[in-house]
Amino acid sequence: MPPPRPGRVLVGEDELAARVAELGRAIARDYAGANPVLVGVLQGAVPFVADLMRELPFDLTVDFLRASSYGSGTDSSGTVRLLSDLTVDIEGRSVLLVDDIVDTGLTLTMLKRMLEARRPLSVKTCVLLDKRGRRATEVAVDYVGFPIPDVFVVGYGLDYDGLYRNLPYVAALDAT
Ligand code: IMP
Ligand code: MG
Repeated sequence: MPPPRPGRVLVGEDELAARVAELGRAIARDYAGANPVLVGVLQGAVPFVADLMRELPFDLTVDFLRASSYGSGTDSSGTVRLLSDLTVDIEGRSVLLVDDIVDTGLTLTMLKRMLEARRPLSVKTCVLLDKRGRRATEVAVDYVGFPIPDVFVVGYGLDYDGLYRNLPYVAALDAT
């Protein structure tokens, strides 16, 4: 069986760029002078972090960690593992945790808790997409790009089985 393909576009390139710029302005206001650490969640948050950081006109640090909540395909395994850690010390720093999407909320909840244990000044969260209807745990998301319906999406960092992260827009996976 060939893999499912990207179908209907949910968020186009122009819309992405405009919203990321807006988020950047909000974050720039809130973090002015704070020298924050942007913590991107690999691999999905890479395009978002790359675009967002260029909207922030002050000194900051960027680092990444890798977590896994999904095996292959579209099915949640319900557990979250830290597969690779930060390289910077976040003690006393203002941390902004950036991910591509919040779905059940398990990933963000676990990562936020883990980062908070390192005694940063603060940890806030920022996601490009929010599948609000799917939340299994209460997690406060401080910055949200777009609320989206409960469909599996790919593109702009989001993958299906490792594919389609390179699309410059967000599309629904066909046959979902
Ligand atoms: P959560 O722990 O259920 O909130 O899931 C968050 C993670 O699941 C994200 O970082 C994504 O990697 C992945 N994920 C959730 N929904 C989708 C989707 O529609 N497309 C691709 N990846 C998704
Ligand atoms: Mg992810």
